[in-house]
Formats: sequence, structure tokens, C-alpha cells
Amino acid sequence: MSPLHVTRTLPEDATDAALRADVLSGLTVTPKWLPPKWFYDARGSELFERITELPEYYPTRAEREILATRSGEIAAASGARTLVELGSGSSEKTRYLIEALGSLTAYVPVDVSESALVQAGQALVEERPDLDVHALIADFTAPLSLPATPGPRLVAFLGGTIGNLLPDERAGFLASVRSLLAPGDGLLLGTDLVKDERVLVRAYDDAAGVTAAFNKNVLAVVDRELGADFDLDAFDHVALWNAEREWIEMRLRSRTAQTVKVPALNLAVDFAAGEELRTEVSAKFRREGVTAELAVAGLELTHWWTDEQGRFAVSLSVAR
Ligand code: SAH
Ligand code: AVI
Repeated sequence: MSPLHVTRTLPEDATDAALRADVLSGLTVTPKWLPPKWFYDARGSELFERITELPEYYPTRAEREILATRSGEIAAASGARTLVELGSGSSEKTRYLIEALGSLTAYVPVDVSESALVQAGQALVEERPDLDVHALIADFTAPLSLPATPGPRLVAFLGGTIGNLLPDERAGFLASVRSLLAPGDGLLLGTDLVKDERVLVRAYDDAAGVTAAFNKNVLAVVDRELGADFDLDAFDHVALWNAEREWIEMRLRSRTAQTVKVPALNLAVDFAAGEELRTEVSAKFRREGVTAELAVAGLELTHWWTDEQGRFAVSLSVAR
């Protein structure tokens, strides 16, 4: 069995510096905000996996249905020998692709969550001893340096995670993905689709409160890493649909007027009663928008598959 290769592209103190910078800039402006990548410590990754099993959270099931039925077509169209997956998490749905890609020699999962990467990577090297699994602990919004593995290359970005980037971040991100591809290489992109507001809001405000715990986990990360004294019970989980921007927003609403200390930054943050901190956007897409954003980045959409109920889409585009 070939061992799991794990590469950390950023030293631990760079992650620490990035968290400090984000907390300082996000909690000292109005409205307050924090980027969603800080949800995903080991507990956040576990909570996300629980979200994917909730009855209200349809995106994972819908995308799994597409991959289960379309992986043969995806494999035939791409012929990839290297599969790079951004924000790979548990790599659970990716197994359909790995199975279908007959010429695959290397799998490169990329994630900020070391626990999720190592767990998924270890399981894969045991299942597929013939595959070179090269896990990369990295931030996919920063320039990536990929291991030298054989082409053609297929970059997969599943789960609808592209919706967690703001529109200008998305444009920069797609341009940097394009720079990882040679002409003829592909991008397989999962996008959640615009639909009935009630279905969307329920998916982000489940009855069991798992999404609320996931949302509040960002406060636990700031408490642990920067010595802050956020009281998780002093905030309420909020999920709302922004019809103009066509995205779900997750926020944390302060129950009372309070001051939170962040000793590592020598910072005291005042919250008014009812004040909200934005923790995530989750944009929902339409086919025309996805096609246009890909085209701007030099990627031509060649395939568009949806689940039976038309809730979620997986598209394949090719670098020109
Ligand atoms: N693709 C999986 C997991 C989606 S959850 C699925 O479809 O189920 C989003 C994943 O992206 C998490 O594993 C999280 O750790 C990772 N992630 C979020 N922001 C990231 C960033 N900026 N760079 C790298 N990984 C990131
Ligand atoms: C990872 N990402 C696509 C999820 C989403 O649906 O935007 C994260 C999430 N947030 C709340 N629930 C799930």
C-alpha cells in the first residue's frame, strides 16, 4: 500500500496570523462578519458531516444522486489521470468519480481541515492501494501549488462550496482554478440552485439545531485560538434568504448588549442587543449565471446535470 502523502502548504503560524487578521478586520467594522473557512476545525467538520445527513439539508443527497448516475459520463468526457478536489471534506461522494475514472493514478484532496483530510485520505489509501493520494492542507482561496502528477487533470469543487465565496471572490477563485489547468483539462463544479425560499431556509435552520451548533462553532474556534470569551449561549442562530442577491445568509445575533474580549488581539468588541455578525453566505445559482461566470474565467461549460427534482446541478467545463 502506498502511504498517504500529506503536505501543509502554510505553516501553522500562518493560519494563526490569518485568523487574527480576519477577526481584527471582521469584528471592528459594521456590520460585523467572519469568513466561513473558520467553521472547520475538527468539531466543525464533524458538525458539517451531521448536517449532510439532516432531512432538511438536501444538497448532499441531490449531488450524490447526480454523481451516482453520471460518473460514467463524467469519466468518459474527462479521461482524467489526476483528480484534484478542492474543499474535499470527507471525500465521500468523490468515491463515485474515483471508481468511474478508469485511468486515474492520482487523487489530490485539498482542504483547510487537517482532521477531515487525514481521515478521508487514510481510508482511501486503504481502499485503493494503487492510487497515489496526495493530501494538501491549504486554503483554496490562495494560490495553490499542486504536486507533479500526470494529466489530464480534473479539478472537482463539489457540495456547492463555491456559493460560500462572495461574487468578487468567486471571480478571482475561478481565474486561479483556470491557471491550474492546461487546455482540455476540466472543472467539475457543484452548484446549489435557486428554489422555493422555505425549502432553502429550512436547509439552513434545521429542527435538531445542528446548523445552529455549526454556526456557533466559529465562536468556539475564536475562543480557543485567540483566548476570546464568546459565550455561545449569548448568540442566536439566524438563517435568512436574501432574494436580491439570491443567497442564504447565516448570522449570529447577540441576545443582549455585551462586550467580548479577544486577548490575543488586545481587543474588546461591543455588541448591541440584537446586533448580528455575518458568518456565511451560501449563494444559489442558475444555469445562465454559472455558464457566464465560467466563461469569464476561460472555462467553457460542456455538460450540465441536475438531480431528478432539479434542486442541484453538477457542471463540467473545459479549459480553452
Ligand atoms: N466537498 C465536501 C465538503 C463540503 S464542506 C462535500 O461536498 O460534502 C466545505 C469543505 O471545504 C470543508 O471540508 C472545509 O474544511 C473546506 N473549506 C472551506 N473553506 C476552505 C478554504 N478557504 N480552503 C480550503 N478548504 C476550505
Ligand atoms: C459547505 N457549504 C456548501 C455548506 C452550504 O450549504 O453552504 C456549508 C453549510 N452551512 C450551513 N449548512 C451547511
